[in-house]
Amino acid sequence: MDNMLYFKGKRFHLLWLRDNCQCQDCRHESGQRLHETWQLAVDLQVEASSAQEDGLSVTWAAPNWHQSFYSAAFLLAHSYDDNPQELQIKACNTEQVLWDQTFNTLASHEYQQVISSGAAKFDWLSDVLIYGVAKLKNVPTKPGTILKVVEEFGFVRQTNYGALFEVLSVEKAENLAFTPLPLSLHTDNPYRNPVPSLQLLHCLVKAEAGGVTALTDGFNAARILAKKHPAAFQLLCTQPVTFRFASDDAVLEHRACMIEVDGQGMVKAVRLNNRSCAPLHMAFEKMLDFYRAYQLFAAIIQSQQSKMTLTLGAGDLLLFDNQRVLHGREIQAVGHRHLQGCYADRDGLHSTLQVLKKTLAGNVA
Ligand code: OGA
Ligand code: ZN
Ligand code: ZN
Repeated sequence: MDNMLYFKGKRFHLLWLRDNCQCQDCRHESGQRLHETWQLAVDLQVEASSAQEDGLSVTWAAPNWHQSFYSAAFLLAHSYDDNPQELQIKACNTEQVLWDQTFNTLASHEYQQVISSGAAKFDWLSDVLIYGVAKLKNVPTKPGTILKVVEEFGFVRQTNYGALFEVLSVEKAENLAFTPLPLSLHTDNPYRNPVPSLQLLHCLVKAEAGGVTALTDGFNAARILAKKHPAAFQLLCTQPVTFRFASDDAVLEHRACMIEVDGQGMVKAVRLNNRSCAPLHMAFEKMLDFYRAYQLFAAIIQSQQSKMTLTLGAGDLLLFDNQRVLHGREIQAVGHRHLQGCYADRDGLHSTLQVLKKTLAGNVA
């Protein structure tokens, strides 16, 4: 094949190489691309190339003459020449650790430490990446502190509920969340597009009894469904449903699948919310199969085997991935109970983790 070059046993397409030239004409000092990928010739030829220990140099043939050099570090970091087997194992072995009822690794991070030490903050945020959920304790119970917590890693995602929302039992509640009633395991706001990818819940006042928090790893539930009931899994990945919320001042609607997978079959998001799932609308022939698949998935999510429960005390704060981890409230809350909640997005958290990683590595070196 002459449309590629080898470097340390890995294949790279010529077009990929030309597109990723790191020279000053091709990259701005910010690292951003200067040439337009869509304008590159697809039939590039190489005049000469040489692979050495420190990298690969390529002289491109006329009429597309150009000189490129790729460091070994760059090529190995971006190599995509894995055999499919390897790729699959890697895909299941990302940082994510799936969990079920036996989950007992969820550490309580100290608020004061997290706001004063980069390493402690890194550990706290890493839990969200790995388990989809992290817990902070001893967060001051002054109302509004939750917004300060978000500033530690990202930006508040405002919604029609405001910058934050009060989880309190109120008269004429527009949402079951604002009653003392139990809430089955759910992801919040699947009726938004895009859906908030992170959620925080901060306990200011603990109930006298009840109001227990349940959490389920939706990715683990999806994995179990795929294994036990592949056809049901397939249906939930391909048949969209409508989620809807309407109040006096908002009408929010989004049609999407309950399980979202990428082109490689990796689960990217789950959406499940008994309260906001609109009347199902799909081909007549599919309806009963869909109900069955939906019930199987929800049953796995709500099962004892899948969920862990904990009671939030005053000053406890949960930060979780709202596209992966489902949360719920078990047993009617007795007495006054007050939580504050708010939303944020994952990109801010990922960015903060990456920056902290660099800074912490610098401190060690
Ligand atoms: C919510 C919610 C859980 C609780 O408000 O979205 O799920 O424990 N609350 O009150
Ligand atoms: Zn170049
Ligand atoms: Zn909720």
